[in-house]
Amino acid sequence: MKIHALGYLGFESPRFEEWLTFGPEVFGLQVGERGADGAVHLRMDDRHRRLSIHPGEEDRLAYVGWELADKAAFTEAVAELTDQGYTPSLGNPADCAQRQVQGLARFEDPFGFPHEIYYGPTFTAGSFLPGKPMAGSFVAGVDGVGHVVFVVPEITKDLEEFTTGVLGLELFGGWTATAPDGSVSGPQFYRCNPRTHCLGYVGVPGMKGVQHIAIESTHLDDVGRAWDLVQEREDIPVTVTLGRHMSDTLISFYMRSPTGFDIEFGAGGELLPDDCVQTSPSTSEAWGHKFVADGWAPSVRPLTTPTARNT
Ligand SMILES: [Fe+2]
Repeated sequence: MKIHALGYLGFESPRFEEWLTFGPEVFGLQVGERGADGAVHLRMDDRHRRLSIHPGEEDRLAYVGWELADKAAFTEAVAELTDQGYTPSLGNPADCAQRQVQGLARFEDPFGFPHEIYYGPTFTAGSFLPGKPMAGSFVAGVDGVGHVVFVVPEITKDLEEFTTGVLGLELFGGWTATAPDGSVSGPQFYRCNPRTHCLGYVGVPGMKGVQHIAIESTHLDDVGRAWDLVQEREDIPVTVTLGRHMSDTLISFYMRSPTGFDIEFGAGGELLPDDCVQTSPSTSEAWGHKFVADGWAPSVRPLTTPTARNT
């Protein structure tokens, strides 16, 4: 299949209503029309939703939405998933109305994380109004939300086949890094458009979950202002300080969200040409990005925890 972008993300959380203030105050995300279930839909552009937090008894990932070009691409992708044994479940009209798309299908990756492919997202031209004054705007549009990174117990052959053979993503790069518990992990990052990556998997023995999601502004001042704000807000823990990964040009920092996963907020991410050459950075950071959290985000859990599936 040919995925064009990471189009939307959805979580469930008992603290979903905290996003009504967390989203606008920290990033400038706009609170959209509430979902029928009370969900908080956050907007980054003229699309009606980019990040949705639904009410739920526990913090969990609900869906990762991958955008396809049109109905023909969607139909072809569903057939491919079926042929490859991924048993996609087609969304009914109510599901599509809830996601505000023309068609969707759900399936799981080899570690049970819930993915969706869709086409025909709803938008209203000129309707986006940031939740606070911004120096720039969100990097979104046809290139999507940003990226999501999962922790899995290991990067298996099945997972590599899923990312490149099933989702049709291109390997952007990876490196060897030491995790908070001292174990050595090997992140793998994948791209689907000019942005450096839209999906990542980090291998950490015995652990699984959403490590972080990332969103980006077109102006570094938005990141600087958010950085200032989180220094003053004890309720928003910084988990990784301001810095830059060696693998791309994004300047960013990470904080813990009310739903237990981390959010990276950055600016200045490069756009790659079609013929870019894969390279391997010698270290993960060019500068900064000091890990200051106590350990993994609560969204990353030992596999023995019953709720670890799909979180
Ligand atoms: Fe990231």
